[in-house]
Amino acid sequence: MSWSDELVSSDIEHMRQVLRGSQRLPRHVAAIMDGNGRWAELRSMPRFEGHRAGMESVRSVVKACSQVGVQYLTLYAFSIENWKRPAPEVRFLMSLLESYLKKELDELHENNVRIRTIGKTNALPRVVEKVLQKAIERTSGNDGLTLTLALSYGARWDIQRAMQVIALDVRRGKLSPEDLTESTISEYLQTSYMPDPDLIIRTSGEIRLSNFLLWEAAYAELFVTETLWPDFRDVDLYNALLDFTQRERRFGKTSAQLGAAAKTKPSTMERLRNALK
Ligand code: FPP
Repeated sequence: MSWSDELVSSDIEHMRQVLRGSQRLPRHVAAIMDGNGRWAELRSMPRFEGHRAGMESVRSVVKACSQVGVQYLTLYAFSIENWKRPAPEVRFLMSLLESYLKKELDELHENNVRIRTIGKTNALPRVVEKVLQKAIERTSGNDGLTLTLALSYGARWDIQRAMQVIALDVRRGKLSPEDLTESTISEYLQTSYMPDPDLIIRTSGEIRLSNFLLWEAAYAELFVTETLWPDFRDVDLYNALLDFTQRERRFGKTSAQLGAAAKTKPSTMERLRNALK
């Protein structure tokens, strides 16, 4: 079904309209989907039920991003460190991924979503790798939301891999050390096809990046919520996006340099001055 034909509550529709018309919508949103295990434990359920419910949040958030015009969504679905989890949990996560891609592919394609991955994907089970490849190929011509699944991903792993390729290219004479800039490093990373994330959301209240997009996150705005990932749905995403639209991104400059027009929210000092007036 096309996502634009759906009937929704008027509150969500209102948020959607505000976001669609906003000039300050993040181009790239990334999410650390945390809290599945705790969600299940709170309900005396096995951990995998949390992951199953988390998949529903993935569906909701993908659709919600697409509907307001976010161009890139990157989801941290399985870190390179997650291989250390108990084997049955890893197997369950892999089968969930496989069924998500199989079940959702038609709808994602119909809604112009382009699927990509980052991470050491050749470590994934053969069957998952194949389903992924099919999804990537089938949606490669789409120009709506780019949905990147970070799988068997670690930022340090990607940086180390990029450094090795850079060193080889220097040895082959393709690159000279003097020409190595920040942009060159970005180009050698697996994330080279996407802009840096504007907004990184982390659920379940933990305040850390956990080896996610470390190079790319240099100027990302962070949004941490206590909500556990399986409870995080479209309305929660819209709240995070609305919060982002109110932030002042200075990229090292001062507020004054950015100009009054760019400001929607007073700085802490201004709020303090206003309160003291
Ligand atoms: C972290 O929660 C979550 C994961 C390691 C897996 C994320 C996977 C999904 C949301 C479902 C499948 C995803 C796709 C893209 C189909 P945790 O288990 O560490 O939670 P805890 O900190 O409460 O234990």
